[in-house]
Amino acid sequence: MDCSRARSDGPFAPRPALRPEPGIGGWPAWPRIVVLVSGRGSNLQSLIDAGCPIAEVVSDRPGVPALARAAAAGIRTHCVDRRTRGSREEFDEALARLIDRGPGPRRRADLVVLAGFMHVLGAGFTSRFEGRLINLHPSLLPAFPGLWTHERALAAGVAEHGCTVHFVTEALDAGPIIAQARVPVSPEDTPEALAARVLMEEHRLLPRVVHQFVTGCIEFRGRVVRRDGRIVRPDDASPPDPS
Ligand code: GRF
Repeated sequence: MDCSRARSDGPFAPRPALRPEPGIGGWPAWPRIVVLVSGRGSNLQSLIDAGCPIAEVVSDRPGVPALARAAAAGIRTHCVDRRTRGSREEFDEALARLIDRGPGPRRRADLVVLAGFMHVLGAGFTSRFEGRLINLHPSLLPAFPGLWTHERALAAGVAEHGCTVHFVTEALDAGPIIAQARVPVSPEDTPEALAARVLMEEHRLLPRVVHQFVTGCIEFRGRVVRRDGRIVRPDDASPPDPS
């Protein structure tokens, strides 16, 4: 299958996309996709706008704009407030139970997307969801894991910066890379200008990777990522151009 143009056929009735990304075909109806957020929710919006069939959105903070975006799109929302849970284990357990308790026989989430989710998940959570948990990070991993990526990229004087979607494992921002998008860095860049340029790429990359995952183009076995049957290595993690 050409993963950059994957379409749903047969029993997978495509849901009408609002503004589908170029190269993204129909979405299969079956997957239970849960998106975790903490704030603004622009990446969540990119999934909504691409027609991604999101089952639920969960925030670790009440009242954030991402929850309003989800509600406006008719998606069920939840908040597991980090501040009212004691330990990280208690929070992670409450979150995991919520995610894997979908209606009917399809209780288990097929894919959990961390889209601007700012809580660091513990090993119990990441091992439970291994292979169905992906994160969007605003740097070209393995460069600049953690926070303040744009400031650190500018301070390091890199010529290129970007964003990464990767499977989540217990090591922070170090799970197997699925895809990356690159932007040039100019000497005049401020952290804000660079962040805005990277964010535009995030909005293109995330829907494409989620689509590739739910159409079976991306596999994760033995901690190895395959796209279209071929092993994805960090230096060839840029997604196929859909044009
Ligand atoms: C994005 O830059 C994402 O990569 C990072 O946090 C930001 C969230 O933005 N993890 P938004 O909430 O999706 O607008």
